[in-house]
Amino acid sequence: MNDKIISFIRELYGEQENLIPLHAPLFLGKEKAYLEHCVDTTFVSSVGKFVDQFEEMVTDYTGVAGAIACVNGTCALQAALTLSGVEPGDLVITQALSFVATANAISHCGAEPVFLDSDADTMGLSPKALKAFLEGETKPGANGPVLKATGQRVAAVVPMHVFGHSCQIEEIVSICSEWDVELVEDAAEALGSYRNDRHLGSFGRYGVLSFNGNKTITTGGGGMLLVNDPELIASARHKMTTAKLPHPWEFNHDQVAWNFRMPNINAALGCAQMEYLDDILASKRAVAMQYRDFFADIPEIHFYEDLPGSKGNYWLCAIGMKDKSARDQLLEEANGAGVMMRPVWRLLSDLPMYKNAMRDDLSVAEDLVNRVVNIPSSAQEKMIS
Ligand SMILES: Cc1ncc(COP(=O)(O)O)c(C=O)c1O
Repeated sequence: MNDKIISFIRELYGEQENLIPLHAPLFLGKEKAYLEHCVDTTFVSSVGKFVDQFEEMVTDYTGVAGAIACVNGTCALQAALTLSGVEPGDLVITQALSFVATANAISHCGAEPVFLDSDADTMGLSPKALKAFLEGETKPGANGPVLKATGQRVAAVVPMHVFGHSCQIEEIVSICSEWDVELVEDAAEALGSYRNDRHLGSFGRYGVLSFNGNKTITTGGGGMLLVNDPELIASARHKMTTAKLPHPWEFNHDQVAWNFRMPNINAALGCAQMEYLDDILASKRAVAMQYRDFFADIPEIHFYEDLPGSKGNYWLCAIGMKDKSARDQLLEEANGAGVMMRPVWRLLSDLPMYKNAMRDDLSVAEDLVNRVVNIPSSAQEKMIS
């Protein structure tokens, strides 16, 4: 069976010999022209027309009130959490099944992550687990829920949309509003993904995208803070750009702030990529649909596809194997044959720096970690150019 899967992927990508990567960027538009413009004008750093243009393009695309381009998704998450009022000593609830950046951003705020389970269908934060934790372990406080055991405040909830598939975001929004707790959406993997026609990252006050080299579009390194309240955009931008007061020559800064702004040279790549994002997404979806049809004939393998009401970007296509030994065998054979496949991350709660972090029952996440495999998911050049 593994041979059949490997041959199918080689056929799909029309590549019989060379390595097939998990996800490779494509530069088919005006990337070179825009980069040359940066060099020719010398505007390579944090001032320049591409930064503003990229922010506008992402704002329009996602339908948020505003977007602030920054150096990477991890910084965007840290900013989102701080701007949401997360303070040292607070607790922030997230899912154990995520990339390490989700928990690191919480730690960078001096807060502590609380790891909850995923739901099996979406792989994202389980609303059931969230509700049970809030009801069982916390009580309402003056400023949001507080942990009964220690009196620590639960300052925010960070659900993550795994591989571009929407988590049960509407249920999570309503639990957060019932409990009066801030929601920060880690939509790092979800540019071009929707839940009931609403772009992911636009459900909380703040959401986050990443444009790392392995993402649906890339700026080399980069991220975006999505802001859903028009009144918060200026103050967020101010804090992300050293809190400098506008003046032609004087250096006045009015608070401790970050230097998180994305350089123009990275935004130039982003602008070029946004111009054909829809084509990239269409190509990735076509690849995913071929996988869906192929795996439909292999009952012991589950291909993760859109659930009703969700439209994902198929950033990384994922399959669920029967068990860990079937997963390990596929990983061994596919990678050995030059077809890149990857297991999901280790649970964050198992990493050494988070081994003492608070956690709940994680049995669904543990099962997913043992069985899920990402398979090659790049857009295909032939479908775009
Ligand atoms: C779920 C998730 N959160 C956060 C990040 C952080 O983004 P960056 O690598 O741009 O810092 C990433 C990706 O890299 C991610 O996959």
